[in-house]
Amino acid sequence: MESGSVCRTVKVGYNNALFSMSMKVYIHTYGCQMNERDSEAVASILKQANMEIVNNESDADIVIVNTCSVRDKAEQKAIGKLRLLSLQKKKRPELKIGVIGCMVQRMKEKLFEILPEINFAVGTRAIADIPEIINNVLNGANRILDIDDAIPEAMEQLTSHLNQGPTAFITILIGCNMHCSFCVVPKVRGAEWSRPAISILKEISTLVSSGVREVTLLGQSVMSYGRSNPVWDNNSISPRGYKNSFVKLLEAINDINGLERIRFTSGHPSGCTAELATAMQELPKVCEHIHLPLQSGSDRILRLMRRGYSVSGFCRAVDRIRNKVPDVAITTDIIVGFPTETEEDFEMTRRLMEEINFDSAFIFKYSERSDTEAAKLKDDVPFEVKDQRNKILLEDQAKRSERINKQLIGKDVEILVEGPSTRNSRRWMGRTRTNKIVIFESGNVKIGDIVAVHITHCTSTTLYGTISQSLTG
Ligand code: 5AD
Repeated sequence: MESGSVCRTVKVGYNNALFSMSMKVYIHTYGCQMNERDSEAVASILKQANMEIVNNESDADIVIVNTCSVRDKAEQKAIGKLRLLSLQKKKRPELKIGVIGCMVQRMKEKLFEILPEINFAVGTRAIADIPEIINNVLNGANRILDIDDAIPEAMEQLTSHLNQGPTAFITILIGCNMHCSFCVVPKVRGAEWSRPAISILKEISTLVSSGVREVTLLGQSVMSYGRSNPVWDNNSISPRGYKNSFVKLLEAINDINGLERIRFTSGHPSGCTAELATAMQELPKVCEHIHLPLQSGSDRILRLMRRGYSVSGFCRAVDRIRNKVPDVAITTDIIVGFPTETEEDFEMTRRLMEEINFDSAFIFKYSERSDTEAAKLKDDVPFEVKDQRNKILLEDQAKRSERINKQLIGKDVEILVEGPSTRNSRRWMGRTRTNKIVIFESGNVKIGDIVAVHITHCTSTTLYGTISQSLTG
C-alpha cells in the first residue's frame, strides 16, 4: 500500500493474539448514548486484543475520537479536538490518531484532506474491524479508511462490555428508516437493522450475572425494533399475549432474574401504541419514563420536517401512555429555527411544551446538514433569532422542571445507587425510575443498591435528599 494514499480495508474480524505488546488507547466520545455504547464496545474488543484502555489522553499511544454529525457544532468540536491532537503529534510523532463514527461516514476521504495527521478512519458499521486496522497501522499502514457498511450482522461481534457499574447500554437496533427532513442519521448510520432477540437477551443475562441492575435499550427509533427484519423465531409466543416485537422484547427482558430496571430511548409517537402503554403498566421492571422527541408544536413545521405525526397525533400518543402510567415522566427534543419557522410557529411550540408539561427537554438550534431534504429549503431564520428562541424555551423548561421536581419534596423516591457524584465525591448519586438525578449523603449503601431517598430540596435539574430505607441488599 502506498503511504499517503487512502486505503480501504474490507476485512472483518480480529484475533485476540494480534498485539503482543500492550498499547495504551484513549477514546474520546462526542454525541449520543449510541456513540457512548459504540465507544464502550470498541474499548472492550481492544481490551480483549490485549490493549490497555486509559482515562488520560496524555498516557495514550493511540487516541480514537468517536464523532457525531447531527449538528455542525458537534462536527466542529471534533475537528477542533483532532487539530489539537495533530499538534501533539508534531511533538510525539509515534502517536497514532483514529477517527470513528458518523463523521467518517459523512466525510469519508475528505477527513484526510482537512486532517492529514489522521492514521485511520472507521465508519459506524465497521467498528468491529478496529483491532485489525490498528494492527495494520502499527505495521506501517497509513490513512486507512473503512466504511464497510454492507453487513450489519458484523455488529453482532460487539456485544461485550467493560465492567462498569450497575447500569449498561444495550444497542437493540442500528440505523434508521425514518425520513425526517432535517436529519443526517439515516445517511450516516444506514438502514434499520434489528438484532436477534436471543442475542440481546444473552447479552443482558451476562451483564446481570456480573452485577448490572439496569439496562437502557438503545436505537435511533427504538420502538421500530423488529420492523425491518425478523428478530424472533416463528413459534416464540409472548406469555402475556403481546404481539409487537419491541413489546415482546421488553417482556422477555422483564423476566430476566436479578435485573431491576429497563429503560429505552429514543421513542417516536407512532410506537406509543395501546400495547406499549399496557406493557409499561404491566411489566414491573420497565421504568416510568419515555423520551419522545416532539421537535415542533406547529403542524406546518412538522409536515416540513416529515415527522409523520401532527400535534394532535403527538398528544394522543402522550395520552395513551399517561392513561396507563399516570406518573410517567416525559422528556423531549425540540428544534428551533427550522426553515420558515415564524414567531407564530414558535409560540405554538412554546404553548404545547407547557400544555404537555414535559419533565425536561433538549433544545437545539436548527443546523443545516448537506444532502438532507431540509437542506433544499433556505436556512432563513437568522442565528440571533434561533439563539433567542433557544434561550426562551430553556428558561421556560427550567421553571417547568423545577415546578415538577418540587412536587417530590417531602416524598420518598426509589433510586438505584450509581456511586459518588461527579461534582462532589463525598456525595453520592442515583436516579429515580423517572430518570431524575438524586444526590444524597452516601451513608451505609453500596453501588447497585436500590434505596428510598427522602427528598428535601431540589433545583430544575437535581433532587437532593437523605436515605430513608434500603429496599434491597
Ligand atoms: N439540526 C438541529 N437539531 C437536530 N437534531 C437532529 N438533526 C438536527 C439538525 N439538523 C436534533 C433532533 C433530534 C436530536 C437527537 O437532535 O431534535 O431529536
